[in-house]
Amino acid sequence: MTDPDLLAAAVQCARPAASGRDGAAGPEPPVVEAGTLSKRFGATQALRDGSLHVRPGEVVALLGENGSGKSTLVKLLSGVLGPDSGQIRVAGAAVRLRSPRHALDAGIATVFQEILVAGDRPVLDNLWLGNGSPVRSRAALARRRSLGMAAWHDLSGQRVDLDAPAGELNLMQQQICVIVRALLRSPRLLILDESTSTLDVTLRDQLFAELGRRTAQGLACLFISHRMDEVMKIADRFVVLRSGEVVGTRNRGEADAEELIRLRSRPPFSTGLVSRSPTVAPSGRVRMKAAQNSKVRETPVKA
Ligand SMILES: Nc1ncnc2c1ncn2[C@@H]1O[C@H](COP(=O)(O)OP(=O)(O)OP(=O)(O)O)[C@@H](O)[C@H]1O
Ligand SMILES: [Mg+2]
Repeated sequence: MTDPDLLAAAVQCARPAASGRDGAAGPEPPVVEAGTLSKRFGATQALRDGSLHVRPGEVVALLGENGSGKSTLVKLLSGVLGPDSGQIRVAGAAVRLRSPRHALDAGIATVFQEILVAGDRPVLDNLWLGNGSPVRSRAALARRRSLGMAAWHDLSGQRVDLDAPAGELNLMQQQICVIVRALLRSPRLLILDESTSTLDVTLRDQLFAELGRRTAQGLACLFISHRMDEVMKIADRFVVLRSGEVVGTRNRGEADAEELIRLRSRPPFSTGLVSRSPTVAPSGRVRMKAAQNSKVRETPVKA
């Protein structure tokens, strides 16, 4: 076993029995449940009847190609967007998440795909951004410094200058900053949307170890990454989106990476076209054989 494999095994062992890793319904209701959520942007149906749930202690990986609707679902669960239809339940109760603040109050903390830091403000302010009212007393400020530094160190094994402007941090440190900000809220559900893409392998594994510790205490996590090795390492369950629709859910151990990649990939053509013997027409367009009602005819397709 390689070190990352050992780490993954440790993370899995640390999970509580209620994680639902075997797919059985645990005694606790899901932390968050999305029911048939739909969202359209103009002509684009970004999400159609998207449903998923995350139980306490569980890591659910949301998989899908670019533009498949992952971040749209994340934004609906984070109160950034409102759904056209469908509902969201938090700990069993139906809620309407009217704003990001409302989602945070419901225990949902999100690290968005875009790294959002206020570059001209100190790291300390960025860690506590939007988390409670500004503090003035020395004691409260000292507590924030100590909690912020401890959370940063737990996650990264490093220390940081809390007084430096966040804009002076490199990209990886800014990513740590927004993850720590989310963790400092002690959420019930942590959503990580491509949050590992800027981390090196060491930091990525440290994040996974921290997630292992926190999920062992009941934290639920919705995890998005294009890297299959990562999702295979930490997810208890996989929910696969394709073109805005959930096309499959698999428990850990039920599917390997290849099957999940197949599931998330669009079929080459969805109109009955057979792609075995394409030819290029003089116009430069590709000609494909199309089989419909067992008749075969030639259909031009734009190259
Ligand atoms: N605010 C918006 N206005 C218009 N179209 C949008 C908006 N947000 C998302 N879309 C469209 O909705 C679809 C789903 O986008 P979304 O960002 O949810 O995909 P994604 O799975 O997160 O992709 P990626 O892997 O690239 O992050 C895409 O076609 C995208 O262009
Ligand atoms: Mg996205």
